[in-house]
Amino acid sequence: MAKKIDIALLGFGNVGRAFVKLLRQKQEELLEQYDIEAHVVGIATRRHGSAIDPKGVDLEQALKIAEKSGDLTALSESGDIRDNQSFIRNCGADVLLEITPVNYQDGQPAVDHLRQALLLGMHAITANKGPVVHAFRELSEIAQSQNKRFFFESTVMDGAPIFSLWRETLPGAELISFRGVLNSTTNYILTEMEHGISFDEALAKAQAIGIAETDPSGDIDGWDAAVKVAALVNVLMGASLLPENVDREGIGSISKEQVLQSAALGKRWKLVCQAKREHGHISAIVAPQEIDSSDPMYNVMGASSAVSFGSDVLGELTIRNDDPGPKTTAYGLLADFINAAKIS
Ligand SMILES: NC(=O)c1ccc[n+]([C@@H]2O[C@H](COP(=O)([O-])OP(=O)(O)OC[C@H]3O[C@@H](n4cnc5c(N)ncnc54)[C@H](OP(=O)(O)O)[C@@H]3O)[C@@H](O)[C@H]2O)c1
Repeated sequence: MAKKIDIALLGFGNVGRAFVKLLRQKQEELLEQYDIEAHVVGIATRRHGSAIDPKGVDLEQALKIAEKSGDLTALSESGDIRDNQSFIRNCGADVLLEITPVNYQDGQPAVDHLRQALLLGMHAITANKGPVVHAFRELSEIAQSQNKRFFFESTVMDGAPIFSLWRETLPGAELISFRGVLNSTTNYILTEMEHGISFDEALAKAQAIGIAETDPSGDIDGWDAAVKVAALVNVLMGASLLPENVDREGIGSISKEQVLQSAALGKRWKLVCQAKREHGHISAIVAPQEIDSSDPMYNVMGASSAVSFGSDVLGELTIRNDDPGPKTTAYGLLADFINAAKIS
């Protein structure tokens, strides 16, 4: 008999909706390959209501409502629950997917929501970098004590298996360094500037296609990249680094002329993220670098991302993720869900 696993979503924006679409698409595979019957029994948002239905929320309707910016409460069997604590307590799920916007400063309120879910005996999965940077150790310890999982694969490089690569497939290997292009917005802007447009024009283009936010400073100033570096360093290198400890410089001072001059010499500008352990100390840097075609980051164009790992046992190991977006992020969540559900 199939294992019935109930899911609650906290956040139903681009990624939440992409996850629901992917889950519906993969329903049969989950059943056939993993013996998992997955149901979404709760969805909560900030301004668009929440729905709880122990028989399974009507996902087709939920998607239609969300796409029209409507209110989900009409689909709820439990009335209108507006606060997240009550939602988590009452949703009856086995797995909480936390998919709300990032808070770079302290990771809240996502940290509290994930902690509550774990303490109630749920697996806790997130696409939100904040809790990983600020509470990875605490949430992992609670998960372990509850025999549950705290997973966060899609927080860095969307669905690319960066964390599980080390957790699952490289036992005994020690990560010594990594170097990569981890921020899509800045890489897109630098790529567009190579076509001869100004920084402002490239930024406007990134905003028009939905890669850059209305306030793009988190990306341009290197904060998003620094948070990702801190997440990788904390999880994979066992440190306790805050984003403000990363030596950080954004791409705001790079001009079109500079980019074109470099291009004429066969070079490119990239916002490079790197960290290295040396003599017991970890240095972490985010800064623009002019690189040539021998660099593994040279062909990482547009919104794509990549990271090269250096370890004590393998040569350079590089992973590249082309054309990321909510769909690939949703896959990271689905992979986490399957891996957590296997132990349920
Ligand atoms: N987009 C990507 O490709 C991508 C890639 C990697 C990681 N991520 C991460 O995934 C997360 C979600 O991204 P997204 O693009 O889906 O964001 P989004 O489209 O802005 O959606 C955010 C959702 O969270 C809800 N929400 C906000 N604050 C909440 C709160 N306090 N309690 C409950 N719900 C709340 C929002 O509700 P309302 O709509 O009612 O405000 C909305 O449903 C972020 O942490 C992001 O950094 C995204």
